[in-house]
Amino acid sequence: MAEVALITGSSRGIGLEIAKDLADKGYQVVLNSRSTIGDDVLAAFDGAAEPVAQVTGNVSDFDGAKAIIDEVIERFGRIDILINNAGITRDGLVMRMKEEDYDAVMDTNLKGTFNMCRHITKPMLKQRAGTIINMSSVVGLMGNAGQVNYAASKAGVLGLTKALARELGSRHITVNAIAPGYIETEMTDVLSDKVKKAMYDQIPLKRFGSTKEVAQTVEFLIQNKYVTGQVIEVNGGLNM
Ligand SMILES: NC(=O)c1ccc[n+]([C@@H]2O[C@H](COP(=O)([O-])OP(=O)(O)OC[C@H]3O[C@@H](n4cnc5c(N)ncnc54)[C@H](OP(=O)(O)O)[C@@H]3O)[C@@H](O)[C@H]2O)c1
Repeated sequence: MAEVALITGSSRGIGLEIAKDLADKGYQVVLNSRSTIGDDVLAAFDGAAEPVAQVTGNVSDFDGAKAIIDEVIERFGRIDILINNAGITRDGLVMRMKEEDYDAVMDTNLKGTFNMCRHITKPMLKQRAGTIINMSSVVGLMGNAGQVNYAASKAGVLGLTKALARELGSRHITVNAIAPGYIETEMTDVLSDKVKKAMYDQIPLKRFGSTKEVAQTVEFLIQNKYVTGQVIEVNGGLNM
């Protein structure tokens, strides 16, 4: 039976690329986002060995996160791989940042990751196996002006990842984080040319990254069972 991979925030961008990549490799892929994923997106999975599934739901809601996991387990019997990729930005300088923009980012990026990890733990402990990958960001390592909320959430994801890796290691469950740099998706499309140029200038490899390059890192972390509690940076050398 194919291993089951649940990828949150996979209606587009990095999550969708990871999903396509894993479907190509023969995994049973389960997509998730708050909105229903359209047939145009699902068509990209035509020809996959296992028909793609989708479970809509909001990871920032504690009970909603449990409902996502329960539904996947009910339909497929298990979850072998959980990729906590759902994330949002609400950028602004701290002196003008609204409380609701701070809360929204923390609720999705950090609490959402906690919620999903919290509810997957029992089933994975029973299985005595599993792979959890949390999507952080280079901003969680370096900070970035205009993103105190996002940086705090993504730095929090790193602490959560390391603590959880220590808790679950004895049951053969690996927990790692990926910290992408500037990857071309809808999330980064909205940045001004000035911000893009400033980022570009700092990247030693002199290009932005692709969603494929993040998906390749996911593949590595699924294959390698002796890497846990780590942060794999995919940022063209932006942070070193
Ligand atoms: N792009 C980059 O340069 C970059 C760099 C570093 C880190 N990252 C991280 O990588 C991840 C993916 O980024 P991306 O650029 O692919 O973003 P994106 O294109 O904006 O996609 C975000 C995905 O998350 C879903 N989502 C948002 N809130 C959610 C929630 N509460 N519950 C469930 N799903 C939710 C969105 O769908 P709905 O809106 O329908 O829910 C969408 O599928 C994020 O965690 C981001 O912080 C991105």
